[in-house]
Amino acid sequence: MSSNRSAIVTGYSSGLGEAFAAGLLERGWYVVGVSRETEPEGLPAKYADNLIAVHGSVEEQETAERAFAAATRDRTLGLVVNCAGEGVFGQPGEYNAADIHAAMAANLMGLILFSDFAVRHMRADGGDIVNVMSTAGKKLRPAEAIYVASKWGAKAYTRTLRDALKAEKSPIRVFEVYPCGMKTRFWEAATRPVTGGAEFPPPEPIAEQVLNEISERRVVYCQEFTFERG
Ligand SMILES: NC(=O)c1ccc[n+]([C@@H]2O[C@H](COP(=O)([O-])OP(=O)(O)OC[C@H]3O[C@@H](n4cnc5c(N)ncnc54)[C@H](OP(=O)(O)O)[C@@H]3O)[C@@H](O)[C@H]2O)c1
Repeated sequence: MSSNRSAIVTGYSSGLGEAFAAGLLERGWYVVGVSRETEPEGLPAKYADNLIAVHGSVEEQETAERAFAAATRDRTLGLVVNCAGEGVFGQPGEYNAADIHAAMAANLMGLILFSDFAVRHMRADGGDIVNVMSTAGKKLRPAEAIYVASKWGAKAYTRTLRDALKAEKSPIRVFEVYPCGMKTRFWEAATRPVTGGAEFPPPEPIAEQVLNEISERRVVYCQEFTFERG
């Protein structure tokens, strides 16, 4: 059975994005998953009727257009989770133009583009935007300068967007998520990784806590989630 409520999850093919997609599918949502190339392992077969993939890089206009068209065809878009991201690290003096573009495209430009599309699609009926940053968006880490810059930029954009929407009394809610290190493919895909990631916890409890909180639709709610290792 296919749901009437749709969600877009960028970075749905792995790690935290896959955990968000799985949690939403379990809760009965129709999910449009966005990634450049990869697909999650089990989800497409298990949820053939409720999961559709859109492939393309998140900072490209055409990727956003295809994702939002798929999510709004015969359904009401209720949630956009911006989770696509890329680790690009290095010491000052080590970066090149491709490094800077990759970090900004995945972590900042795509998050802004998909948030802006979300606003125009959800302005009348409301909905939720969940923007995934990192604890790097709250700290200054010398070996992570452009990653840090992309996540601080995403935080600044997300908070400004929320203020703007509150000022116009919009029914759209905007959530900030700052995960700690997680054991995902992120670390093997990263440029000059600072760790292998084996010491970190899995991403599923983070997605579960965020989805549980936003599903409740409480009168007062938590708009910012910072996760630290226990
Ligand atoms: N892992 C950590 O320790 C950690 C800690 C704090 C915050 N985060 C953040 O959490 C988010 C998820 O990370 P993760 O650990 O789950 O990473 P992951 O396992 O590497 O998954 C990244 C996902 O994003 C997609 N992606 C990457 N660049 C993209 C682009 N330009 N356009 C479209 N899709 C793109 C990947 O698919 P394709 O490669 O097929 O495009 C994949 O689906 C990221 O924003 C990351 O910065 C991670």
